[in-house]
Amino acid sequence: MNKPAPLVELRDLWKSYRKGSETIDAVAGIDLDLPERGMVAIVGPSGSGKSTLLHVIGAMDRPTRGSVRVAGRNLGDIPQGELTRFRREVVGFVFQTFNLIPNLTAVENVALPMEFSGVARAARASRAKALLERVDLGQRARHRPNELSGGEMQRVAIARALANEPPVVLADEPTGNLDSATGRLIYELLQAIARERTVVVVTHSEELARLADRVLHLRDGRLSNAAHDHSAREARSGA
Ligand SMILES: Nc1ncnc2c1ncn2[C@@H]1O[C@H](COP(=O)(O)OP(=O)(O)O)[C@@H](O)[C@H]1O
Ligand SMILES: [Mg+2]
Repeated sequence: MNKPAPLVELRDLWKSYRKGSETIDAVAGIDLDLPERGMVAIVGPSGSGKSTLLHVIGAMDRPTRGSVRVAGRNLGDIPQGELTRFRREVVGFVFQTFNLIPNLTAVENVALPMEFSGVARAARASRAKALLERVDLGQRARHRPNELSGGEMQRVAIARALANEPPVVLADEPTGNLDSATGRLIYELLQAIARERTVVVVTHSEELARLADRVLHLRDGRLSNAAHDHSAREARSGA
């Protein structure tokens, strides 16, 4: 039987920035396959390239070199004009600072990506409500972000990330602004989501990272844990 194609496939991926006469390789030659479903944690010191890697996977940033395939699409082949739609429908993003729209209620925040995707008003209202119930916030649907706790705001943001049912959810230090008990709840929610989607979560916490199915260590733009990363190990041994 054929092995299923990975949902995310990175090949010799580089992202470099110029800083004066210097070049910074934020992502420096990463090979990685992620399957459909499951939770992958990326751990690494500040500046190791974690956010850059997520942005490139999520088509928020173009790689300098190498290829990114997500859900069967080679990101390099997607015309600029179609990238917004790709991002809206294929990836859901969760940020450390929640990034909710302050003058919209929780349910309006969750419905917004569906509005951009052209989902009819009634359908998006009922789906947004169902998503808020899924993250246990049905009672807070009419609250604005400033009436919610940090953990509640992050749950709204997670519901919003699921609005268009993306196969990939990318979370960049989603618990960085939360206390550890609340952070753990957010992780458990991401674990549950990873039963039906691919979740990539960046974290500073080794303890939370251990809740993932797989842990990748990033340092200076490179993956360093060959033991956990068979595809990278094979690539390196051939180099
Ligand atoms: N837009 C940018 N312009 C220049 N340098 C950048 C930019 N984004 C990130 N970098 C640099 O790339 C490296 C990795 O950054 P980042 O991906 O944000 O790391 P992390 O998320 O692990 O803290 C750092 O040296 C950072 O300064
Ligand atoms: Mg970062």
